[in-house]
Amino acid sequence: MKEQQGLLASHRATRPLAIRLVAAAGVTLAALAGCARQPAPTADSTPPWPSPTWPLATDAALEQRVRELLTAMTLEEKVGQVIQGDISTVTPDDLRQYHLGSVLAGGGSAPGNDEFAEPAKWLALADAYYAASIDRSGGRIGIPVIWGIDAMHGHSNIVGTTLFPHNIGLGAAHNPDLLRRIATATAEQVRTTGIDWTFAPTVTVPQDDRWGRTYEGYSEDPAVVASYAGVFVRGLQGEPGAADFLGPTHVISSVKHFIADGGTENGKDQGDAKISEEVLQKVHAAGYPPAIEAGVQTIMASYSSWNGVKNHGNRYLLTDVLKGHMHFGGFIVGDWNGHGQIPGCKPDNCAAAINAGLDMYMAPDSWKGLYTNLLAQAKDGTVPMARLDDAVSRILRVKLRAGLFEAGPPSKRPLAGEFNRLWSDDMRALARDAVRQSLVLLKNEDGLLPLDPHSHVLVTGDGADNIGKQNGGWTITWQGTGLTNSRFPHGTSIWQGIRGAVAAAGGSAELSPNGSFRRKPDVAIVVFGEDPYAEMLGDRKVLALPIAQNAHLGILRKLREQGIPVVSVLLSGRPLWMNRELNASRAFVAAWLPGTEGGGVADLLFRGPAGSAPRDFTGTLSYSWPRDATGTPLNAGQPGYAPLFPLGYGLTYAKGGSVPALPEDPGVPDSLINAGFFLEAGNAIAPWQLREEGGAALRAEPVSDGVQQIGRRFVSRGGAAVRVGLQGDQPLDAQREANGDVLLVLRLRSGGAIPADLWMSMACGQGCAGKLLLGPQLRKLPRGEWQTVGIPLKCFQAAGADMARITEPLAFGSGSAFDISLARVQLGTNPPVTLACP
Ligand code: BGC
Ligand code: BGC
Repeated sequence: MKEQQGLLASHRATRPLAIRLVAAAGVTLAALAGCARQPAPTADSTPPWPSPTWPLATDAALEQRVRELLTAMTLEEKVGQVIQGDISTVTPDDLRQYHLGSVLAGGGSAPGNDEFAEPAKWLALADAYYAASIDRSGGRIGIPVIWGIDAMHGHSNIVGTTLFPHNIGLGAAHNPDLLRRIATATAEQVRTTGIDWTFAPTVTVPQDDRWGRTYEGYSEDPAVVASYAGVFVRGLQGEPGAADFLGPTHVISSVKHFIADGGTENGKDQGDAKISEEVLQKVHAAGYPPAIEAGVQTIMASYSSWNGVKNHGNRYLLTDVLKGHMHFGGFIVGDWNGHGQIPGCKPDNCAAAINAGLDMYMAPDSWKGLYTNLLAQAKDGTVPMARLDDAVSRILRVKLRAGLFEAGPPSKRPLAGEFNRLWSDDMRALARDAVRQSLVLLKNEDGLLPLDPHSHVLVTGDGADNIGKQNGGWTITWQGTGLTNSRFPHGTSIWQGIRGAVAAAGGSAELSPNGSFRRKPDVAIVVFGEDPYAEMLGDRKVLALPIAQNAHLGILRKLREQGIPVVSVLLSGRPLWMNRELNASRAFVAAWLPGTEGGGVADLLFRGPAGSAPRDFTGTLSYSWPRDATGTPLNAGQPGYAPLFPLGYGLTYAKGGSVPALPEDPGVPDSLINAGFFLEAGNAIAPWQLREEGGAALRAEPVSDGVQQIGRRFVSRGGAAVRVGLQGDQPLDAQREANGDVLLVLRLRSGGAIPADLWMSMACGQGCAGKLLLGPQLRKLPRGEWQTVGIPLKCFQAAGADMARITEPLAFGSGSAFDISLARVQLGTNPPVTLACP
């Protein structure tokens, strides 16, 4: 009993949910407890895994072709076939020379390294890779390439595309039919650019909302995920058995990330899921059986570990469970150098992954070394030939089923080049409908909503006219940062939607960045929330907005003092501690990350015109809403479950909705709220402290904009070594950030010329630092203006900083005179200016 309690307590997030599901399935709690006590998995001691049916009957003609191809292929061609490189490092010539079976465009990759490349460039590049792949010169066999991309919420890498709400919002819609239509539409979008394969849908079941990928999951509830996984795959690939299955209007799907990516300890991205096999099955496997029954062609392995073992190297999970018990008949693709995290492996050297059952390596930048090493390992038997042949066969089957050998060049296939489909009226109407269905009304005191569109409406908050912010991560850029509204030529901001609705009714609307107004409004709509992030950059220690994203609090309170009723619209990738905002608002809408059709928000905030079909909120929470900011895992069914709003909560206009006054103390230290931020408005953020060294040579003073402090100015008169540092005694671990191309981002202004000997560094304890001479680059920036500048963490790393234990995220100094002001220092991506490693 003691052991059982320990096991259950170690993942209190997941236990109760499992119990609920198991109970529903007619299994007793005692049986579950018995299973949770089981030691390491062995074939006969583990509970049975689900055993879905693979829907595609063995096709004798297809198998014959696979055998013929295998016989004809050289070893080099086989090895190349199981490797996927990223378009940022693979040229069509490389693809030909190394026989690569696949390319991908990762989050930051685009034709010509231009993230804003027009769709035609993507299509042209698809043609170039295809032509290289089928080239038969010199006796090459010429197997058509497949190209994979993260079409996460629509074809989200392509400028101009209509983007749908992220999965968390679709979860709130509870509408599988809507999901099928979105998947079909996404396939169509991807096809216009000649791409074959999307790394979607994500069927994770997040159990700890501090995880940065919570929004990629439909729900904390496995039942919701299961109800979507199959229909989404069918929408993308078509119906197994139908004539157009994997046909030219469909794309290959990849469900991900197998398995328990959303079950890691403390919600750490790429972390360790310390859970029983029972929880693995009942909670985290939920999406896989329906996806397999829909004939999903590929499954992506998760970066994460299960009880200390990296999934990429877990033979039991990949081979015995997925291909064995679960009858998966497609191929397993790895995640971005995920194989390199297996102990003993490196991104360019890892026989263990294929031997465990991985079929295609995602080796974005490591493909060349990997090819050489894998070839040697196939020759010397480290990788058994039977295993290599099996992996190649699985890949060939998918390519044959998708008709790629007969399809011709991507640009000649149906839908190719029909780019106006990316933003057609139908696409936009579908996305706008999805937005309406995803909104969850959490508070509506005295029936404030629906608003009268004839009123005078103030619209404010940093999310009001910010299409980038309403789209979140995986939007054009990997992190979804660095985007102005002009990057969304066919999108609508929430403000634009409101302005349209009000104008059509004869009312008036005023947009204000800071909550001031020309004419006293009848009502104010404040749009705020999380700035975009993806993957580990979204990991949080607690569920409260960091200080740099809290400008709306002052606005809300001021409006309340003026007696103006406030509607809050929260943009976020997860439930957050919102007690202060709820107190200050009469109505509160969780809008998640709605995508490019911001008009869908106004559709439900305002009463429709007379005679129009009545509309109302229908969305309900697919994640439990917390009462405090601690971020302690909160999932329906757990003992003592005490959410502020439970799973399934959501009001309508009619269903009354006041919320009693809530306590306003977050109950967690600021240092946890602001992790990743080091300095804001010129003030060091706890636990970091500014240390200014230079004696009489250095003068430091606050900088203000006339109203409030916005930065801190450091003036050195030269002649002595001056040093300013941000120090702390709790070291920061930024290894994953460094691997993911994250930067140290500074907002700074230089009063005069920056001296050539100005350096910046990151330190990692006594005698450990990476110091960069940056004066020569910084002095080229315009003087006297605020600039946002990024320095890749990799530069500091290469110069000697140990990213596992950063004790000083920034120091700078010089022996010469300078005049530099700093407003903000944080980890970030896509700054307007990126410095090169000197
Ligand atoms: C992510 C995957 C994604 C891949 C390719 C990885 O870092 O975990 O979800 O499909 O990159 O961009
Ligand atoms: C890529 C993403 C990838 C990530 C992995 C980024 O540089 O652009 O696609 O998911 O690295 O950490």
